[in-house]
Amino acid sequence: MADGRGELQVLDDPDQVRSAVRAARRQGKRVGCVPTMGALHEGHLSLIRAARAECDFVVVTIFVNPTQFGPNEDFDKYPRPLEADLAACRKEGVDVVFHPAVEAMYPAGSKTFVEVEGLSTIWEGACRPGHFRGVATIVTKLLNVTEPDVAYFGQKDYQQQLLIRQMCRDLLLPVRIRVCPTVREPDGLAMSSRNAYLSPEERRSALALSQALFLARDRLAQGERDLPAIRQAMRDHLESQPNVRVDYVTICHPETLEELEEPLPRMVALVAARVNETRLIDNLLLET
Ligand code: PAF
Repeated sequence: MADGRGELQVLDDPDQVRSAVRAARRQGKRVGCVPTMGALHEGHLSLIRAARAECDFVVVTIFVNPTQFGPNEDFDKYPRPLEADLAACRKEGVDVVFHPAVEAMYPAGSKTFVEVEGLSTIWEGACRPGHFRGVATIVTKLLNVTEPDVAYFGQKDYQQQLLIRQMCRDLLLPVRIRVCPTVREPDGLAMSSRNAYLSPEERRSALALSQALFLARDRLAQGERDLPAIRQAMRDHLESQPNVRVDYVTICHPETLEELEEPLPRMVALVAARVNETRLIDNLLLET
């Protein structure tokens, strides 16, 4: 290629990925990893572009991780448009796509899991028991295989990025975690692979998640300081939409995710709701 980058390598074998990454590092290259479950959208592409801009060798992992899905969740129907994902990675100049089989990531008889206490059991963790154990375990494995200098995650999964940062600190993993802003559709809907499940009518209802967050931001900007009242207004807005069922609405501490009664200079608003069968999450950092 004219820019000196090679062809995209698509690898399913952890040892081959490790060899490719180590060869790059021997050439003095800085390695970036973007862990994904595929069905790549502009949010993922923004992570890949950040990795491309900051690193010399970019690995994207595409793996729909069974251990982070509950028994009644959407593991089987989760979109897997591999050819389109590979085309997107080629276009963005990715060096390696790691696309392992489940058996490669969870060898028969696997008995080891990673659990981050505290953060794993509140909000998303309370609604999806075992989810964060699955996330922490697979991210540890993906970082072990790809050995990146920097790993990229989206702010869209706010609790997930907090948990991964905590886990990397606790396990002394030699990787820097970069969190990139949520990418939104022009009308505010946060990009998500699960948006593909929404009918046009459901998509209109789904807009209520970002609208509830913007409502909180606007009330604070107007000087309102009553957080319980703001939370209630957010919930009322969500519940006023057809087919929306709220899992949680909160305004909390941006690091501990403890729910706040009094405003802080920096806070985060988190929302999770189902639109019919589709479960969506969103968040916004708030300032006073
Ligand atoms: O955010 C995701 O897509 C997944 O939770 C991750 C980090 C790739 C782990 O499977």
